[in-house]
Amino acid sequence: MNKKRRKMKKKIFKIFIAILLIIIGIVTLIVIYNKKESKKINVNIDDSTEIKESEEEQLISKFKSYENYIDDNLEKYLSYYNNNEISIPHTIIIVNNNIEDNEYTSIMKDIIDHKNFIEENLNRYLAFQKKYESTVNEAIAMVNLNMDKKSYEDSVLTDVTKGDLILVNKYYHLTSDYVPDLVTVSSKHGTGSLQKDTYDAFIKMYNDAYEQGLYLYVASPYRSYNRQNQLYTNYVKEDGQENADTYSARPGSSEHQTGLAFDLATANNYSISAFENTKEFTWVKENAHKYGFILRYPKDKTYITGYIYEPWHYRYVGVDIATYIYENNLTFEEYYAMNIK
Ligand code: DAL
Ligand code: ZN
Repeated sequence: MNKKRRKMKKKIFKIFIAILLIIIGIVTLIVIYNKKESKKINVNIDDSTEIKESEEEQLISKFKSYENYIDDNLEKYLSYYNNNEISIPHTIIIVNNNIEDNEYTSIMKDIIDHKNFIEENLNRYLAFQKKYESTVNEAIAMVNLNMDKKSYEDSVLTDVTKGDLILVNKYYHLTSDYVPDLVTVSSKHGTGSLQKDTYDAFIKMYNDAYEQGLYLYVASPYRSYNRQNQLYTNYVKEDGQENADTYSARPGSSEHQTGLAFDLATANNYSISAFENTKEFTWVKENAHKYGFILRYPKDKTYITGYIYEPWHYRYVGVDIATYIYENNLTFEEYYAMNIK
C-alpha cells in the first residue's frame, strides 16, 4: 500500500514538473516573440527616413483628395505648404492661381475664407486691396462688382427688376429710355418728381425734422437721361472731363434717373453746397436711415463710390437696409456685393 502511494506521489510530481516545464516553455516563447516584435518597431523608429517618407506620402494623398488638386503642381504645393503656416485647401488655391511667390498673409487667408470669395478673382482682390489699402470686405465687394475695371468703359446694364435696390454707378447703367413711375414733389417739400416710396419716406423725414425746427428741401430729384446729359456736358465744358467725372455722373449712370435719389438743401438756402454747414445736415446725417435713406457718397469712400463726398445726396433703399448700411459704415456698393444676388 505504502509502495503504491509513493509510486502515485512520484507520478503526480512528474506530471507537475512536466506542466511546469510546459508553462516555462510557453512563457519563454512569448518573451522571445515579444522581443523580436519590439526589435522590429525599434528598427522603424530609428529609421527616420522611412518615417519621413510615410509622412510625405500621407500628405500627398491628402492633397490628392481635394477636387481642385492638379498633379503638375504637386512639388509647388509641398514647397509652399512646408514654408508657410497654411492649410492644404488654401495652398492648392494659391498655387493654382500662380501666386506662390507671395508670402502667405492673414489678408490672403481672410480673402480666401470670405463668404463672397470667387476663386478666379483672387489676383484682382489682392491687387485692389494693395492699391487702395482697403479692407478685405471692400476689396471683395468692389471686384465682385467689376469695379476694379475701367469705369464707364466696362459698364454693364443694371438689373432694373431690383426695385428700390437698383444699383446705378460708373459700372452699372440705365438705358436712355428708362423712366420710373413718378409722383410730383409739392412746392412745400421741394421741386420735381420722385418715386412714390421715396417721396412718402421723405415726407415722414420732413415732418419729423420740421418738429425740431428744421426745414428740408428737395433741391434736385429725378433727372431724365437728357437732363443728366445737359448737366454733365456743361460741367465738362466748364471744368474738363476729369474733374466733372468726380462729381457728376455721365448720362445713364446717374442715380437721379432712378427717381430714388435726391439732393437736399434747406428752405432757408436752396444751394446744395451750403447744406453741409446747416443744422439740418447734422440732423439728417444721424437720422436719415430711420426713414430708409442713405448718404450715398460718404467721406473717405471715393475709391469705392467713384465720387467725391456729397453731403447733400440721399438714396432710398428702405429702413432695414439703410439702418444696416448706416450702422456698419458701408457704401451701397459694398452692401449690394455682399447681399444681393
Ligand atoms: N452727383 C451725382 C454723382 C450724379 O450726378 O448723379
Ligand atoms: Zn445727387
